[in-house]
Amino acid sequence: MRKAMIAGNWKMNTTVAEGSDLAINLSGFVSSSGKFTKTLVVICPPFTHLSEVVKSVVGSDIAVGAQNVWSEEKGAYTGEISAKMLAGLVKYVIIGHSERRQYFGETNELVNKKTTIAMANGLLPIVCVGELLDVRQGGDYLNFILNQARVALTGQAINGENLVIAYEPVWAIGTGLAASKEQAEEVIGALRNLVNAMFGAEIADKTLILYGGSTTEENIAEYMAMPDIDGALVGGASLKTEKFTKMIAEAEKSRAR
Ligand code: PGA
Repeated sequence: MRKAMIAGNWKMNTTVAEGSDLAINLSGFVSSSGKFTKTLVVICPPFTHLSEVVKSVVGSDIAVGAQNVWSEEKGAYTGEISAKMLAGLVKYVIIGHSERRQYFGETNELVNKKTTIAMANGLLPIVCVGELLDVRQGGDYLNFILNQARVALTGQAINGENLVIAYEPVWAIGTGLAASKEQAEEVIGALRNLVNAMFGAEIADKTLILYGGSTTEENIAEYMAMPDIDGALVGGASLKTEKFTKMIAEAEKSRAR
């Protein structure tokens, strides 16, 4: 059975000191005592926090990720961070989050390039896809999402363990209007079929695919019970130790059954 994953996306929240405190509290919960053997826990703080947070989670089973990466190797890209800079510091990197697509004009092609360079540098991308409300209401959302994923995954050397996909319907992010478990399962099942068609059944069976959008400690168990949903990319609730730790515990419980 695939492991579960609970990944926190802190977005542009917390100071370095607050972030470090949060990470210390979380590591107290996710100690390396073998308590969470079936759930991978990831936190993705802002770039400015990464060094501190990496120190704060030493000795725990929490992995750290970045929220973004630039698509080029190095050079005159003021303000950007390369995959090489992140490699060795963090394990994961979120790529193509809908807020990057919406506010910073990231295209499917850019998401593909970022994914390629991240993987070439040994980072584990968490590639995000998801539709806006008008696309959902228009009815053709599956094709829209599968196209985003197809472009992102084209040419990638995925093996089932080196890339994670997150389905995050834009209308569900930060709105409290979470997708139903059936809505999330429909899309995530279709994404798994796409991975199967592109890379084969074995890789599709191993690849972690998460749901994201208004997940909380109260609704996480519903998603975890669905056959294709492997966990969550969590925004708001990942900033609260109590909520996030409950989500980790629920994920673990779902896999212990
Ligand atoms: P949310 O954000 O949990 O606050 O809805 C999810 C995300 O954007 O990753």
